[in-house]
Amino acid sequence: MKITVVGAGAVGATCADNIVRRELAQEVVLLDIKEGLAEGKSLDIFQTATLLEFDSKIIGSTNDYTKTAGSDVVVITSGIPRKPGMTREELIGINAGIVKTVTTNILEHSPDAIVVVISNPMDTMTYLALQASGLPKNRIIGMGGILDSARFKTYLSLAMNVPPSDLQATVIGGHGDTTMIPLTRLATYSGTPVSEYLSAEALQKVAADTMVGGATLTNLIGTSAWYAPGASGALLVESIVRDQKRIFPCCVYLEGEYGQSDICLGVPVVIGKNGWEKIVDFKLNETEQAAFNKSAEAVRAMNSVLAS
Ligand code: NAI
Repeated sequence: MKITVVGAGAVGATCADNIVRRELAQEVVLLDIKEGLAEGKSLDIFQTATLLEFDSKIIGSTNDYTKTAGSDVVVITSGIPRKPGMTREELIGINAGIVKTVTTNILEHSPDAIVVVISNPMDTMTYLALQASGLPKNRIIGMGGILDSARFKTYLSLAMNVPPSDLQATVIGGHGDTTMIPLTRLATYSGTPVSEYLSAEALQKVAADTMVGGATLTNLIGTSAWYAPGASGALLVESIVRDQKRIFPCCVYLEGEYGQSDICLGVPVVIGKNGWEKIVDFKLNETEQAAFNKSAEAVRAMNSVLAS
């Protein structure tokens, strides 16, 4: 198994670090356009092999795509992150050019790869990667919902004072402060609805905190987060390379599912060796479906910027 991570910045390097620690591939390639960055970070990560006891090899490359040849999975994190006060959507112009070029270069050397898109605005970048590559839809997966759901579970855990790992909670829709939909009705604590433990107001606050979860960190740190985004990317990659068939909310191309078509948006999917293998129907109620439709409208407006 060979995995490439494009972009050796905060998210890409953290993702690659998690991938080698979990030994998801014999070989991991970290690639960046900035001279020396990927080589340096890869060497630093590889020097933890004896300390953390993993056998995966990681190498870096400054924009030499021949080193990525034959990759089974490629994670795209290249682009610029947002600064305080910026929305993910404001990144579109610069990141669209980067994602398009990277996707083309990657597929030239790894035509069979499954592509995971992390760069923002992620829903639009996933759609762009699908259009630019012409790949079958199941091989392009946008990562955002896994991170947003992890944040949802974290805020639930803080509000309820229970371990996050005992919570099941999902965020669907777009990966934006106003487009994501934390499914509070379906959130459970070891199988029981969280509404049995939290008031409607408290649950509402958890949902609101989740939606601005990324912005909260950007304001605190001065740039966007990387520990949870990197770990989320690696978890998605793990389900692909180990064919785990885990159900994660991921951004995929819809053709009528959840009432939407010709758009990439976050829905629960089964993730395995073929990429996303099946869309799972969570049977939204009317309010949730209306929110999903509104989210689709916003993402569609963003996608239309690409065409103009
Ligand atoms: P960063 O600035 O630390 O790293 C980005 C890296 O991409 C830089 O090292 C840069 O040199 C590289 N790069 C730029 N153009 C390139 C090209 N043409 N080829 C190869 N490498 C290139 O940014 P960070 O924090 O790692 O974020 C990366 C992206 O991920 C941003 O767009 C950010 O908004 C997004 N993000 C997405 C999340 C999600 O859940 N989908 C969560 C967090 C961040």
